[in-house]
Amino acid sequence: MLEGKRILLVIGGGIAAYKALDLIRRLRERGASVRAVMTAAAHQFVTPLSVASLSGDKVYENLFSLTDEAEMGHIELSRDADLVVVAPATANLLAKMANGLADDLASTLLLATDKRTLAAPAMNLRMWLHPATQRNIAILKSDGVAFVGPNDGSMACGEFGPGRMAEPLEIVAAIEAALAADTELPLQGEQSHSLSLKGRHVLVTSGPTHEPIDPVRYIANRSSGRQGHAIAAAAARAGAHVTLISGPVAIPDPAGVTTLHVESAQDMLKAVEASLPADIFVSTAAVADWRVARSSEEKIKKGAAGTPTLTLIENADILATISNRPADRPALVVGFAAETEKVLQHAQEKLGRKKCDLIVANDVAPETGVMGGDQNTVHLVTTAGVESWPKLSKVDVAERLVARFATMLGAQL
Ligand code: CTP
Repeated sequence: MLEGKRILLVIGGGIAAYKALDLIRRLRERGASVRAVMTAAAHQFVTPLSVASLSGDKVYENLFSLTDEAEMGHIELSRDADLVVVAPATANLLAKMANGLADDLASTLLLATDKRTLAAPAMNLRMWLHPATQRNIAILKSDGVAFVGPNDGSMACGEFGPGRMAEPLEIVAAIEAALAADTELPLQGEQSHSLSLKGRHVLVTSGPTHEPIDPVRYIANRSSGRQGHAIAAAAARAGAHVTLISGPVAIPDPAGVTTLHVESAQDMLKAVEASLPADIFVSTAAVADWRVARSSEEKIKKGAAGTPTLTLIENADILATISNRPADRPALVVGFAAETEKVLQHAQEKLGRKKCDLIVANDVAPETGVMGGDQNTVHLVTTAGVESWPKLSKVDVAERLVARFATMLGAQL
């Protein structure tokens, strides 16, 4: 499966760099060619001679090297590969990638590449758990970067926890998966070049809603917002003007998107209506079906009144409300159906009941790991029938959906 594939391997400066040597061997055993780039810090851990001997190619190290640039410039280097792999991806390298810094050959080619990137993070567990690193990871994921690891384990520094780089064979498997998932639709830069939604307004809801019980308590659900945020980001990359109405989530606002934050279903409906008109409405949010009829102004106390009884009333259906707008219904209305059983049957019912043009159905039973996870298996349900997609990352699902929306809208691709 790796026969003939060209891997550009960026080796960062961490103790795990020694595993990059084995990774090169494993990739070449499988018929892939490996071109390696080392950061300055990587030289502290492995020598260019070892890397060059194993890869069978020269090692690229210097952005300003006349010979390197003459033989193969950094732009060409970044594009002449099927996949860019960063291993070890240090905290510093990930921070540069997330922020678009380009101050050496490795970071410059990571910014210049139009190919998919797979990162294998490796660092001390405190560095991995630090909010700054976690923020950078979330940004990179929403940019379409794939990750393998890090694993839990004992570290060179004597601590135990997450931060150990994935083993070479795990990275090989992730490389195979990244190359396989990427066959139909290009990711990152390439999709944005087509600007298939240029000039369109795309309105997306995402995340859960919180329905207050009293000032400190609420009813919520397990939606992370990842799929909706990824769709908003992908639509922006496709050239659309995107408004994202987000319930409370722990992930960052996507780049290039106008994000409005709301808490309850009622607020979400108001924000959606205020954001019309739109060409496309994508209702990804896991809107609470019910709210507490009369939420308490004060914190409800234990005591004489006994256990409180919550009376629930139904929230308005935002998707159905927007689908039924007489004057300004968006040309394309897309709903989601999160089901735990009879997925397609329920989705077909929702398509008719909510009068939308497309329902994206997914199985969110706990064993699927979809709610809160990185991957999703979706089925596209329209009046024309059902199309089932393979298991993909939520970012890949988003890219493909946005391409499909553009086609359905009859946009010029
Ligand atoms: N939806 C909405 N407003 C609601 C409830 C749901 O806009 N009050 C939207 C969701 O964003 C999603 C679609 O309707 O696009 C389906 O949501 P889902 O929770 O699967 O369906 P429900 O209509 O709530 O039906 P049920 O919970 O009975 O399956």
